[in-house]
Amino acid sequence: MAMPKIAFLECSRCGLHLDAVTPQTVCTACSGPLYVRYDIADASARPKREDVEKNPNGARRSGMWRYCMVLPEAEPVTLGEGWTPMLRSRLRPNVWLKDEGGNPTGSFKARGLALAVTMARRYGLKKLAAPTAGNAGGALAAYAAAAGIEAHIFMPKDAPLANRIECRAYGAKLTLVDGFISDCARIVAERKAAEGWFDISTLKEPFRVEGKKTMGYELVEQLGWEYPDAVFYPTGGGVGLIGMWKAFAEMEELGWVHGKRPKMIAVQAAGCAPIARAFENGEQVSQAWQNAHTFAAGLRVPKPYGDALILDIVRKSGGCAPAVTDAGIFASLRDWAEHEGVLMSPEGASATAAYDQLIDSGALRPEERVVIFNTGSGSKYSEEIAAMFAQQTK
Ligand SMILES: Cc1ncc(COP(=O)(O)O)c(C=O)c1O
Ligand SMILES: [Zn+2]
Repeated sequence: MAMPKIAFLECSRCGLHLDAVTPQTVCTACSGPLYVRYDIADASARPKREDVEKNPNGARRSGMWRYCMVLPEAEPVTLGEGWTPMLRSRLRPNVWLKDEGGNPTGSFKARGLALAVTMARRYGLKKLAAPTAGNAGGALAAYAAAAGIEAHIFMPKDAPLANRIECRAYGAKLTLVDGFISDCARIVAERKAAEGWFDISTLKEPFRVEGKKTMGYELVEQLGWEYPDAVFYPTGGGVGLIGMWKAFAEMEELGWVHGKRPKMIAVQAAGCAPIARAFENGEQVSQAWQNAHTFAAGLRVPKPYGDALILDIVRKSGGCAPAVTDAGIFASLRDWAEHEGVLMSPEGASATAAYDQLIDSGALRPEERVVIFNTGSGSKYSEEIAAMFAQQTK
């Protein structure tokens, strides 16, 4: 089964169609994020679920590329991303942990950047730039190195040490910024024209979402082509949540899955919870969060670019947007390490903490089948985790 040609790119806000012949960024009319659309109108040519299950054969079919029939036609820049374990919880019946910590560079960011860098190489782009909370920078640096492309990365200076080191090791040009990811984004926007950089920021080009949508395909396939009742997702920029929702719509159109879509639970840290607050207040977009503070570095996103999309998906799915304190996140991180054998990233632990919170409050029933995303490996956060241990022994 071949990879499909892109039919067009579609604005998620105003529906405008753009072509994908040259690299696109956001909608030319309204600056909305763009979705990749394929031509699957011809039912006889539609990819089938059985094609996915055929033996992977080479890079084009292994890992997340097993879904190559719903990904753009291009030779993958791959480091072995995707097809991560779906671990059944030992203590909580009906809970599965989708463990993204084993991806290249130790986080789910590998999926989006594998595809975005694949397409950048196909378009012949030579210089990529991105603001990042940390893990996306590490992933971009690795895939850019694999593709022979320059990476210019802007990261808050208090990002985890592992993220700073990996960027340097992969040979990226790293700038540490005294501020948040939003300040990093401003610098990229100001300098990109003069420097000749292509801006590969979250939702400012269409392919990171497209790569992350494979998490939606995978979780459904790993549950026997069935939806769970709820998906818990640690939400910073929200790209994974947006990508999974897109995957669900595509799978329904292809006839790969039926039934009620899961409630999407966008989990945030109490110290930076713009989506949780907007959800609570019934607002369509978020307000920038002041003085963001949490040891879950990936959740320090004061104003996500895709906030309207995230809130819309959470509401349409019948989900919610809880916030968890750092103490609650750390307690859950220790709980899952000690009792389940998984050292999660703090972002992942925010999602497991939120699960316990919703069970305790009665908002969710223990019979409901739930997939929780651990978006990264805890071993990338040894300094942050050490600091939390030190606080507890004071
Ligand atoms: C480990 C981890 N989890 C979650 C997130 C948030 O991801 P998203 O931007 O898709 O909401 C990040 C972002 O940096 C991250 O590094
Ligand atoms: Zn538009």
